[in-house]
Amino acid sequence: MRRELDPGLLPIDVADPALRPKNLDEYIGQPRLVENLRVYIRAAKQRGQAMDHVLLSGPPGLGKTSLAWIIAEELGVELRPTSGPVIEKKGDLAAILTSVQEREVLFIDEIHRLNRAVEEVLYPAVEDFRVDVLLGQGPGAQSVSLPLPPFTLIGATTRSGLLTRPLRDRFPIQFTFDFYSPSELAEIVRRSARRLNLDLEDGAATELARRSRGTPRVANRLLRRVRDFAEVEGDGRIDVAMVKLTLHRLEIDDHGLDTIDRRLLQTIAVKFDGGPVGIENLATAIGDEADNIEDVYEPYLIRMGFIQRTRQGRIITNLGRLHLGLPKAETTLF
Ligand SMILES: Nc1ncnc2c1ncn2[C@@H]1O[C@H](COP(=O)(O)OP(=O)(O)OP(=O)(O)O)[C@@H](O)[C@H]1O
Ligand SMILES: [Mg+2]
Repeated sequence: MRRELDPGLLPIDVADPALRPKNLDEYIGQPRLVENLRVYIRAAKQRGQAMDHVLLSGPPGLGKTSLAWIIAEELGVELRPTSGPVIEKKGDLAAILTSVQEREVLFIDEIHRLNRAVEEVLYPAVEDFRVDVLLGQGPGAQSVSLPLPPFTLIGATTRSGLLTRPLRDRFPIQFTFDFYSPSELAEIVRRSARRLNLDLEDGAATELARRSRGTPRVANRLLRRVRDFAEVEGDGRIDVAMVKLTLHRLEIDDHGLDTIDRRLLQTIAVKFDGGPVGIENLATAIGDEADNIEDVYEPYLIRMGFIQRTRQGRIITNLGRLHLGLPKAETTLF
């Protein structure tokens, strides 16, 4: 189970559909991706055809699910949402596929978690728009190939590395999400503040943005917490001091790292002598799951240059040591 950044545990997405961008104009950041996407959407609409299948990959909270809904919205078609772990049997997927109408979007979240047997049903569906179903039972059962209307599959994944090659190759359009810049996040924070009717100073937006791990979901979540503190311990106005106070109370440091991030760094530095340490050992040592570390924590720590992935495992960099207030690692002199 993911903690902290798990969408299921974060009321913000569910409780605040107001904060979710509804169309491409409201979608802040990822400029190159958005620019190209506009072309593909337009081309598909001009031809009156289903858009090519799209794979969205990147760390949690960067806007993959939001973008999937936006694509359907911009195409002017329905989106049918499902997710990898929910589709257990081949028949489940076949049933979903046969219900998708022409040009509609079928959205499979966490597509890397589809099991192999189910995945094989997807291949002919996305390639040739047909699905093989078994009619009847037992020895008399017959396999028939049913045609499907052309549709668009959108797959989202936090771990494109776990996708099988044949599946990945079946997505003509592939977008990889990048962490957001502080100025993009500040824009997101300001927009969310307007929607929530908050009195937010510009400097406060900048400070919050800088400490949101490059992640819109985190920025929105922190904004909600600052609002709580501002209303209870202040007069409701959100200034830089209020942001600092809130983040201090949440034990989020100057770079936006939380206690788990720091424990992870500390563990590599001290317990494992700087590394390399394998992901499973690291997970056991900090009492979390390997998946969680790989999905949620590690990408940002790597992005910050605090840790590195090597063939032998994770190592902490001198920058990472500096962040913990530890001296530089001793280098071996030959
Ligand atoms: N480009 C953006 N502009 C404005 N807000 C955004 C943007 N991207 C994401 N958000 C905000 O962040 C929240 C989280 O985004 P979303 O749920 O789409 O992320 P995700 O990549 O699907 O995450 P996960 O991998 O955990 O499913 C959204 O509800 C929205 O409020
Ligand atoms: Mg999502």
